[in-house]
Amino acid sequence: MAEDIYMARVEELAGKVVGDVAASLSLFMAYLGDQAGVFEAMDGEGPMSVADLAAKTGLNEKYLHQWLGSVSAAGYVTYDADNDTFSITPEQALIFTREGQPACMQGFIQAVVSQYESHEKAVETFKSGKGRPWSDQSQCCFCGTDRFFRPGYAANLTSEWIPSLGGVEDKLKAGAKIADIGCGHGSSSILMAEAYPNSTVIGFDFHEPSIEEARRKAADAGIDNVSFEVASAQDYPGDDFDFACIFDALHDMGDPVGAARHIRETLKDDGTFMLVEPLAGDTMAENMHPIGQIFYAFSTTVCTPASLAQDVGLGLGAQAGQKRLTDVLTKAGFGKVRRASETPTNMVLEITA
Ligand SMILES: C[S@@+](CC[C@H](N)C(=O)[O-])C[C@H]1O[C@@H](n2cnc3c(N)ncnc32)[C@H](O)[C@@H]1O
Repeated sequence: MAEDIYMARVEELAGKVVGDVAASLSLFMAYLGDQAGVFEAMDGEGPMSVADLAAKTGLNEKYLHQWLGSVSAAGYVTYDADNDTFSITPEQALIFTREGQPACMQGFIQAVVSQYESHEKAVETFKSGKGRPWSDQSQCCFCGTDRFFRPGYAANLTSEWIPSLGGVEDKLKAGAKIADIGCGHGSSSILMAEAYPNSTVIGFDFHEPSIEEARRKAADAGIDNVSFEVASAQDYPGDDFDFACIFDALHDMGDPVGAARHIRETLKDDGTFMLVEPLAGDTMAENMHPIGQIFYAFSTTVCTPASLAQDVGLGLGAQAGQKRLTDVLTKAGFGKVRRASETPTNMVLEITA
């Protein structure tokens, strides 16, 4: 069958792809600069020649020259062509090197690099249709996930999200029993333990290396009202919890209904379950924007394979939307679901009996 090709449309799409190629390589360059400490070395230094930067970092001047060309063209670093010097503005420093600041995007970038790192397994999984366990992702993915989510939790969890729930903050201040399920490296558990010293937090995750890392972090922070246990969301030990939470993990679970049911059964009758999930509309059409583009991509190679690798294998996906999440929670026996808060990337649901 003859087909009409409109060259203007080809050129437009090719131009977009060239931009995407440049962007994907810029992320890789940003990752190199992060891992080699180049952004950090430039932060607050003012204009530097390539030789200055090589002397400060101990890196090869030839490599730095090429790297600076790429990141300057990307706008990640500022190039002064008249003096042949490079610098970073405070805004560039916030995005690329100020660790722990909500604006720092290196965790996001690290999570992307982790997907390229294991591209062969991703292709194999995609073609086979089989699951791929969370534990099969690269170490860079676990660290990138924690590094990406932690600044958002630090900025919002105890100042916005918990206060947005009915009566929960007072309980946590007075002293409550908290379960953080699918806690990963434990950043959310540690933040709650620090903010509510009268409460006790238990972080559960079925990925043992993540639990070991969470224990290390709590020990480093010198906090003793938090502990971590290797356990699955469907049958972690303990009961009579006042508050249960899941941060960006329900959609990774094979049996989210079973997990939510276990939460309901181990919560006190007047307890609250806070579910933090990626922000998404209820239909794919509502998610046709960069955040949707990003989450659907991670969902293709990380979240959905992680779910399909477990019993039930529901594969909710990282853009499930409040309607499908409410369906899961209702099937688990919860009576009320309310959108309590949201950020540009997350929705926070308050779930009660
Ligand atoms: C995207 S990570 C989020 C980790 C952490 N909550 C955070 O926000 O940084 C998803 C986590 O869910 C955990 N997970 C997935 N399925 C699980 C299950 N059935 N039981 C317990 N943990 C599970 C994984 O091991 C992983 O640590």
